Amino acid sequence: PSGELLERIGAARLVPVVVLDDATSAAPLAEALVAGGLPVAEVTFRTTAAVESIKTMSARGDLLVGAGTVLTAEQVDAAVDAGASYVVSPGFDPAVVRRCNERGVLPLPGAVTATEVQAALAAGLQVVKFFPAETSGGAKAIKALSAPFAGLRFVPTGGIGPANLAEYTAVSAVLAVGGSWMVPRDAIAAGDFDKVSRLTADAVSLVSA
Ligand code: 3PG
Repeated sequence: PSGELLERIGAARLVPVVVLDDATSAAPLAEALVAGGLPVAEVTFRTTAAVESIKTMSARGDLLVGAGTVLTAEQVDAAVDAGASYVVSPGFDPAVVRRCNERGVLPLPGAVTATEVQAALAAGLQVVKFFPAETSGGAKAIKALSAPFAGLRFVPTGGIGPANLAEYTAVSAVLAVGGSWMVPRDAIAAGDFDKVSRLTADAVSLVSA
């Protein structure tokens, strides 16, 4: 199941990182992402609206909904109970990965150093989030890490946007690129879902070019 999920994330090439201040935004946001051609979302546990939003978005059945900013095993449970199919963390915590495995969802923890990558490999992972990407050496660092860790794939996130997206997608070890640029928090809060659709469609056309 996690292999199929990774394939779907790789096919989408992009993971929109969402911060929802109000769970009532979840339904129109999901609609906007689908309309923009990107049925994927990482809903961060940075707001209390996360659980309800994951429920709403995953109930559609046509969206790849994950939880982001997951720091504890308890949050893994809350995310999975709400319907999340993958769990993203900013860093690597064996307890979080273990709970993901117990619950049968894909863990996607952050790793930006060789030591962190080895910890992730030892935990059986094939894909890590590379976070925060731009300040951790960017695409160059991913290329350098992929020399000793052949086969490992990365989802760089943090500081990426339309201007530097191509640097990352050019690296073969990059499975997909994460970011919040297509789902601006202020646009969502203002109810401007047309803007979200537009930015999403623009991002999709950049990765398919
Ligand atoms: C994340 O949690 O992945 C980041 O907040 C997203 O980074 P960005 O806002 O720089 O795209």
